[in-house]
Amino acid sequence: MAGKEIKVAGEENITSVLHEDRLFKPSEAFSSQAHVKSRQDYDRLYRKAEKDPEGFWGELAKDLHWFKPWEKVLQWKAPFAKWFVGGSINVSYNCLDRHLKTWRKNKAAIIWESEQGESRTLTFQTLHREVCKFANVLKDQGLKKGDRVVIYMPMIPELSIAMLACARIGATHSIIFGGFSASAIKDRINDAEAKLVVTADGGFRKGSVVTLKDKVDEALKETPSVERMIVVQRTQSPVTMQENRDFWWHDLMSTASADCKATPLNSEHPLFILYTSGTTGKPKGVVHTTAGYLLGTTVTSKWIFDLKDTDTYWCTADIGWITGHSYIIYGILSNGVTSLMYEGVPTYPHPGRFWEIVEKYRVNIFYTAPTAIRALTKFGEKWPKKYDLSSLRLLGTVGEPINPEAWMWYHRVIGKEQCPIVDTWWQTETGGIMITPLPGAIPTKPGSATLPFPGIAIDVVNREGKPVPADVGGYLVVKRPWPSMIRTVWRNPDRYKLTYWSDIPGVYFTGDGARRDKDGYVWVMGRVDDVINVSGHRLGTMEVESALVSHSKVAEAAVVGRPDEIKGTGIAAFVTLEGGQKPTEAFKKTLKAHVSKEIGAIARPDDIRFTDFLPKTRSGKIMRRLLRDIAAGRESVGDITTLEDYTVLAKLRQEDDA
Ligand code: WTA
Repeated sequence: MAGKEIKVAGEENITSVLHEDRLFKPSEAFSSQAHVKSRQDYDRLYRKAEKDPEGFWGELAKDLHWFKPWEKVLQWKAPFAKWFVGGSINVSYNCLDRHLKTWRKNKAAIIWESEQGESRTLTFQTLHREVCKFANVLKDQGLKKGDRVVIYMPMIPELSIAMLACARIGATHSIIFGGFSASAIKDRINDAEAKLVVTADGGFRKGSVVTLKDKVDEALKETPSVERMIVVQRTQSPVTMQENRDFWWHDLMSTASADCKATPLNSEHPLFILYTSGTTGKPKGVVHTTAGYLLGTTVTSKWIFDLKDTDTYWCTADIGWITGHSYIIYGILSNGVTSLMYEGVPTYPHPGRFWEIVEKYRVNIFYTAPTAIRALTKFGEKWPKKYDLSSLRLLGTVGEPINPEAWMWYHRVIGKEQCPIVDTWWQTETGGIMITPLPGAIPTKPGSATLPFPGIAIDVVNREGKPVPADVGGYLVVKRPWPSMIRTVWRNPDRYKLTYWSDIPGVYFTGDGARRDKDGYVWVMGRVDDVINVSGHRLGTMEVESALVSHSKVAEAAVVGRPDEIKGTGIAAFVTLEGGQKPTEAFKKTLKAHVSKEIGAIARPDDIRFTDFLPKTRSGKIMRRLLRDIAAGRESVGDITTLEDYTVLAKLRQEDDA
């Protein structure tokens, strides 16, 4: 798509309808043991960072292990940042080796629970051993520093081993969520020009086998860069191994040496690429580098989750998303804390599964998504009540705004009114958490992510970049570079500039709308661009539209979000058909399946409506605002004077009533 990528919703007023003034203070018992103990402590840290951001981050970075210290904390040639210039460091060393010299050597690094209830524990020592072996496997396959490895795996320990092994030798990983289709895999592999793919025969989901290797096989028909595939045997599903291209993980590991020194890497060496949806049909490769990302995730993990050596920490995200990268693996292991990793979904084999696991491992810190909380609320309090949740001391949420009702349920039923809740706002691009309460210091309000993390300069502004007054909606921006920030879009610096640094002068634009209340608390209101957040997963409406029109019988499609009780946002598609195709229920099903095949099940539209015309402005732009109103069953209140054909609206509404 040509032209500007983000359409700042200039024609729409950002108005907030949420009014919530309950305030929850952390208990004295929690605050007194926390890393950051009071509002005064937070203010002190915040002011210190404002006065001298580089000094602030530089001091914290001294706690990491460096092969060679940096010469300069920040080199900023807007909008391109280099952090810890001249330094030499390794993320895998920081997550593993440095703990081996301490009593943590035999502490659990990863406790893995399968969907069926089997358990596997990897201590820092045994995880280190596996990572070294797989790093040697990668080297034996000819992988070199800077080569890209695509990882497409279920939530099993080998996924963590593979990513840490890449980090160890400086291969840049790109993890693709296991729910993506062959076509999505192909696009990502080709954009990253990956040399090697690590996958599994399949994975378990809700008791059945989901095959994975066959999807990679299909993708690999059109990915000239890939030379090798390594396959973990997880489900024993039948697979075809292509000679000289495909190798079993267990075969290669059986002869690999466990001796592999971590490669000293430049601070700015690309650690990983993670593809995320934008406002065009093509996902963008968000690039994160080594030292700044490690620092950001390490410090935020420690202060926000108040990590202690005695904690068992559980983040329920999939490692295929940024939350799993930063807060199952890198930030948690670098702090030497035990990270629980769960293979399955919250509701299988029963809706008490999460709480059963909390009880089984005496989990202390639990981090999940509002969509999971809403889904579990529906099954009632009887499920959490069956289990002993008394080990929990801190709860967290991420991925989308949490509605106050779900927040209160989480607080009351799961936290027993004893656990602070950290509602953490951040993005794939920010690498780490940006707006959040520090749990021992900041009283919380249900639905607000509260205040910026020390060192993070956020603001809520209008289109011209001027701060808006309290309780007025505006655009959420970041005013200063931060260590774990996106460095560029993979091989597309122009897109990086255009997407994040062009719409509002001089600042990083998040794509989110927000307001700040009179106490300075931030209330994130959701995306203002053409990205929708479905169950906490980002999807570009353009991606779904491209998938729809790739069907030969579809002439035109417009996709918008609409409110959904569980998912937060559901996907509504308005579709015009090619002549000859009848608008039948059966064809709706066909189209839903088509989108699943093109992108993955997460992008499957909830609603499809056939229409002869889409409402457009005279200049031909689809009027999404109107479609959003129709999809939500709202009366359109906005201006429709530029609408080309008023009858279109009436027709669409008739469809609604039908
Ligand atoms: C949304 C996930 C409100 C937001 C870490 C952001 C949130 C997008 C919150 C990033 C929150 C994330 N409150 N909205 N606590 N956390 N979001 O890249 O719209 O998958 O821009 O990163 O999720 O999604 P992403």
